[in-house]
Amino acid sequence: MILERENMININQIKKELGEVFLGNEDVDDFSALVSYYQLCRAAVGEFGTKLENLDADYQVRHDHNPIHHIEVRMKDVGSLLGKLRRKELPVRFSSIPDNIYDIGGLRVITNYLDDVYTVADNLLAQDDVKLIKRKDYIKNPKPSGYRSLHLVVSVPVFQADSVQVTPVEIQIRTVGMDMWGSLEHKLRYKTDAPEDKVAKYSKELHGYADEINNIETNMQNIFHKL
Ligand code: GTP
Ligand code: MG
Repeated sequence: MILERENMININQIKKELGEVFLGNEDVDDFSALVSYYQLCRAAVGEFGTKLENLDADYQVRHDHNPIHHIEVRMKDVGSLLGKLRRKELPVRFSSIPDNIYDIGGLRVITNYLDDVYTVADNLLAQDDVKLIKRKDYIKNPKPSGYRSLHLVVSVPVFQADSVQVTPVEIQIRTVGMDMWGSLEHKLRYKTDAPEDKVAKYSKELHGYADEINNIETNMQNIFHKL
């Protein structure tokens, strides 16, 4: 058996060591609060990861069809968290985060077919301890780029040693085709050194492919239903 212990930051140690470096303690308190919050969000990702794995097992054991292709998890890196605070013109302080940033913990569920997106969402949202905070259906209403995906911000109680903290995560649910499209388009969007005219040309081309993929996935689902 391999016992793996993630080397997490200990806030008492940080307070002690950074407190000696900084003159004021406000930054250290903010930093400690951020570290604690990341741990909570990581725990919430774990809770939803387990929920999704349990659904996956149930679909396999008791159902003819498993909607889940695979599941990915990620924690937002601190650089993009700071970037997001600035973009939203929020003070770069811990207090801005809990009420404004819901995607520190993120899960992505890749499904086989279009209908599967809603099956997974419904099955998750039917659970008593799961609360829906925000739902954006970019499948019914694709983004101007052509981006499609169902975005849910959901919370779950996280049981800590001395309290229960209801903690949000963002779950993106999308088909294999939407995921393939999103990955390439993301590269184009964030590859800042590509020349502008090239980006414009490829964006337009990709927009067309988003619709084509959607047509293909709709037709393939129809075949699947008729089988
Ligand atoms: P935030 O509060 O900034 O999250 O705003 P929001 O909730 O309106 O964000 P949104 O619902 O647009 O979701 C943001 C995430 O969705 C991004 O991190 C991407 O993963 C994904 N996303 C949104 N739009 C696009 C797009 O046009 N292309 C790609 N490839 N991904 C997108
Ligand atoms: Mg978002």
